[in-house]
Amino acid sequence: MDHAHSLERLLAAPHPPRPWEDEHQIPWHDPAFSQRMLQVHLDPSTHMASRNPELIDRHIDWLESQIPAGSHVLDVGCGPGLYCHELARRGHRATGFDFAPAPLEWARTKSQSEKLDCHFLNHDLTKLPDDFTTLIEGPLDAVTFWFGEFNSFSPAMVREFLPKLKSCLRRGGKFILEYQPDDIFVKEESTDWSVVNSSVFCDRPHLWLQEFGYDEDSDTEVHVHWILETESGSLQRYVQCHKAWTDTQLLALLAEAGFSEPMMHPAITGESEEFEFPLVVTSA
Ligand SMILES: C[S@@+](CC[C@H](N)C(=O)[O-])C[C@H]1O[C@@H](n2cnc3c(N)ncnc32)[C@H](O)[C@@H]1O
Repeated sequence: MDHAHSLERLLAAPHPPRPWEDEHQIPWHDPAFSQRMLQVHLDPSTHMASRNPELIDRHIDWLESQIPAGSHVLDVGCGPGLYCHELARRGHRATGFDFAPAPLEWARTKSQSEKLDCHFLNHDLTKLPDDFTTLIEGPLDAVTFWFGEFNSFSPAMVREFLPKLKSCLRRGGKFILEYQPDDIFVKEESTDWSVVNSSVFCDRPHLWLQEFGYDEDSDTEVHVHWILETESGSLQRYVQCHKAWTDTQLLALLAEAGFSEPMMHPAITGESEEFEFPLVVTSA
């Protein structure tokens, strides 16, 4: 596709973008993307994709105040397994699942080299099999879902996977959810652009155009990344949707999935509003 056709396609797209119509997440599970993203996960100078080891350590300190010694914990969307590894170093048993191939492979290699009691599975949260509980050898003491990725799923998807996660927990087991609170959503349209030699989306020079919209009907932020390769004119479109749940809506959703005794908790260290969010701890 040449530059002119790419521009035609870009201009013909809906502006502002509409939510939940096609893709709703960046392409975590694409092999090349996941390889580039792995470098971001592991870069200790940024909290992007994964918080740095010091912050994760402090999160695990807090998590240990919520779970018994020697717990079996399932980490949803575990990425390179940084939380699982640390839990296993502290005597817990950890199972993580994700659908991004490069981080998963790194998580397994690290776990083998340190001889940690960790297992990593390749599953898409939106397509969990009915026998998922048996695959992870539950029942579990806790299920964790860190870093606000929860908000990148539509209400229908969340209603589908929450009961499946709950069924993995023993009675009284904890679901620990770090979510992006309603008040951090900007709820305005805007655009941004930059010229870069490479990014997580593409390792060749490109123009990176970003559009942000907010759909009030569905309370969803839509973030579109247009990647226009400078030399070839090739154009890729990636869409991220983030659903804004109010605390009241979130608590009702968790109750609907059968969780009880919810406790809201502020961000664990409060170090960064951009990279650390509040949590809700609730019981199966
Ligand atoms: C922001 S990263 C956080 C990684 C890890 N929890 C951490 O804090 O270090 C979000 C993770 O969720 C995973 N993820 C997103 N959608 C997923 C899905 N549908 N199924 C499984 N994993 C998913 C991504 O691949 C990515 O590793």
